[in-house]
Order: sequence, then structure tokens, then C-alpha cells
Amino acid sequence: MRIAPSILSADFTRLGEQVQAVADAGAHSIHVDVMDGQFVPNITVGPLVVEAVRRATTLPIEVHLMIERAERYVGAFIDAGADSISVHVEAQPHLARTLHEVHARQKRAGVAINPGTPLAALDEVLPDLEYVLLMTVNPGFGGQLMLPRSLDRVRALRHAIQSRGLRAEIEIDGGVTLDNAAAVRDAGVDVVVVGSTVFGEPDPAAQVGALLSRIAS
Ligand code: DX5
Ligand code: ZN
Repeated sequence: MRIAPSILSADFTRLGEQVQAVADAGAHSIHVDVMDGQFVPNITVGPLVVEAVRRATTLPIEVHLMIERAERYVGAFIDAGADSISVHVEAQPHLARTLHEVHARQKRAGVAINPGTPLAALDEVLPDLEYVLLMTVNPGFGGQLMLPRSLDRVRALRHAIQSRGLRAEIEIDGGVTLDNAAAVRDAGVDVVVVGSTVFGEPDPAAQVGALLSRIAS
């Protein structure tokens, strides 16, 4: 299982330094949470911050767009250095076209899905995806508790992907801690996003090390 620290909980006065520290500690990618104050209540960052992260690390950058009409911004985030882009199934009337735009730029395409949305909403696009970003909290804020039934949803999605012989990876986002990381791995998750567990602590690099050892044992 790979680890994708989310900069949502980072110290933005030391962003480059913190990104480099988690990269050196063994993180596999950097997750950037983009919120528009419309699709979710919070407002965060745009392509400028992705550009800054790009200058700080060679790790893959995954951009999670929690915005309405994400198709307007896919190109700008790829220009800024994103390697993967996920858009929400709940916010995309023309989902297939948006995914095509990501693939036309040779980037990895993901679809994010909220806890209250039936997994069947992914059926049509699942063959086109490099990954599903399964939300394990309601998006908008870091530091929330993982919702019950999250791992049941992981297992159901794993079954749907495997039974159709598809390649999509499962990434979960929200509420991952040192205490639940091993159970998450055992449920069949490929990648975990970790925000407050890494950047909410005084030593983010040590937290990445601790997570890696929890999932290795
Ligand atoms: C929630 C964001 C998450 C969030 C995870 O809206 O998509 O990426 O930063 O944060 P933690 O790990 O603190 O739940
Ligand atoms: Zn996210």
C-alpha cells in the first residue's frame, strides 16, 4: 500500500520543506486538495500551489478536484505539474469527456466518490479509470474520523473491479490514522491519502515512517 500525504494540513509557510521531508521519508506521492466553496463548503488552493509543490519534489502529484465543472480547470492543473487528476462523480455531468481530457494529456485519471453515493455510479466509467478515490469522510475538511462502512465499500469496490477484470486502483481519502492503517491495507486499498496524521503532527517525516512500519508488519 502506498502513502499520499495531503498538503491540506501542512504548514504553508514551510510548504516546500515539508513536502521534501515526507518525500525523503518514503511517501509515494503528494495529494493536493482543491476546494471551491461551492461543491464543498471550504476553499483551498489552485494551480499556483501545485506549481510550488512541483518545484519542491519529483514525486508524482495527485490533484483532487472538489469543484464544480472541473473540466474548466483540468488543463491548468496539468500545466502546473499534476500527474493524476480526480474529479467527483457527483459534480460532473460530462464525466466521460473530462476523463478523456485527462488521458489526452497522458495523465492518470481518477473519479472521486462521496460516502453517500452508491458505488453503482461508477459502473459506466470504471473501465476508463486508473483509480477510484473513495472518500471515507465527507469532503471539505481534514482531521475527520473515518466513517463506518468505509472498509465495506472498499471490499465491494475491489470485488466489482476484480470481477470485471479491470485495472483501476483503489485509493481512500479521509480519516486514515496509525491505528487503522493495517486494517485499511487488509481491506485491499492500494493508496491511502493521509492529511492530519502526517502534517498535523510536529514531525511529518516521522509520521510517514511510522505509517510505513504499521503497514509493513
Ligand atoms: C477531505 C480531503 C482529504 C483530507 C484528508 O476533503 O479530500 O484529502 O485532506 O485529511 P485527513 O487525513 O486529515 O482526514
Ligand atoms: Zn483529497
